[in-house]
Amino acid sequence: MTILAIETSCDETAAAVVSANLAPAIPEVTMLSSVIRSQIQLHTHMGGVVPEVAARAHVAAIEPVVKKALANAKVRFGNIDYLAVTQGPGLMPSLLVGVEFTKALGFSLGKPVLPVNHMLGHLLSPLKDQASSDECLAARKNGTPSTLFPMVSLIVSGGHTMLVLMDRPNRYRVLGQTVDDAAGEAFDKVAKLLGLPYPGGPEVSKLAERSKNPPDFPRPMINSPDFNFSFAGLKTAVRYYVESLLPPASLGAKHSTLSAALKADICAGFQNAAVDVLVSKTLKAAAQYKAKSVSISGGVSANRVLRKKTAEACEKAKIALFIPPFSLCTDNAEMIAFAAAYLLKNKPKIPRTFEANPSLKL
Ligand code: KG4
Ligand code: ZN
Repeated sequence: MTILAIETSCDETAAAVVSANLAPAIPEVTMLSSVIRSQIQLHTHMGGVVPEVAARAHVAAIEPVVKKALANAKVRFGNIDYLAVTQGPGLMPSLLVGVEFTKALGFSLGKPVLPVNHMLGHLLSPLKDQASSDECLAARKNGTPSTLFPMVSLIVSGGHTMLVLMDRPNRYRVLGQTVDDAAGEAFDKVAKLLGLPYPGGPEVSKLAERSKNPPDFPRPMINSPDFNFSFAGLKTAVRYYVESLLPPASLGAKHSTLSAALKADICAGFQNAAVDVLVSKTLKAAAQYKAKSVSISGGVSANRVLRKKTAEACEKAKIALFIPPFSLCTDNAEMIAFAAAYLLKNKPKIPRTFEANPSLKL
């Protein structure tokens, strides 16, 4: 079957066409095309995403992006079996564009439209190539469904940070989440504090590679008995540290007076603290729930230090690790198509209608 998926939850207009085989325990999904039009240029000088601006850009981009995805896949509208679209969570103005466009397209083509939870897209993304290929960076030891579950999954994005327990392919529950900022949000805020462009995650991690002497920042909630996270305190600790380095007269100027070497150290110190907490809590959950595998997903899972430290910890604990390829970490429509195939296999009831929901829960 052929699925066209559309994703507009934040600042990427994305469409993907996939061919799906629902027979295996984890559907086998082959990507025929995946097109992403990023709005980063539009938002970078604002230091973050402006919802109204994002929505207008989605309106302008959605039709050409969908047409390009079909052309690249060499698939005609008439050959699509299902449409899928991100229903939420995300920015309401952005979600509305994708949801209403896809509903209208489904209506005109007479094809069913599946609403997909964006977080389910991230959650399942490390499994996408599990049934078919071996491209992922992930350590694929014991990578068969019977040895995969229970799986403890860390989702780390710009809007969310959560630990999810999947005890079989179609059953999952949230074990814990951030009580304040998401991990990606903390990366973005630290970057802003240091005068680095949006999105801050890739900038912070790039600069951190040059660090020689990273400061030691607190690891909030690392020893708390639950599986929740907190990153607001870490971000504030970084801010106080930055302010302590600046002569009082230059406080207004903030980052501009810091040397590149100091910025690199601050980035590395922050990254080390954030990654330590993420890895420690993920492995603690894996031990408690006797997980056979661990996965990480979402924009922050593109972070090389997080990937490396998680791989080392899983190797030590002898647990298989699944990490999506870089192209599936940040927002994309391929993961929405994969989640749609998963829903068709496990929960095939398609709602007659649905609305965009900015606070949709997993
Ligand atoms: O999943 P995503 O594309 O969008 C949301 O659903 O939020 O995640 C975007 C987030 C941003 O906060 C961005 O700074 C972060 O992922 N990010 C990274 C890296 N690449 C993207 N954070 C740390 N290191 C990276 N290499
Ligand atoms: Zn996302």
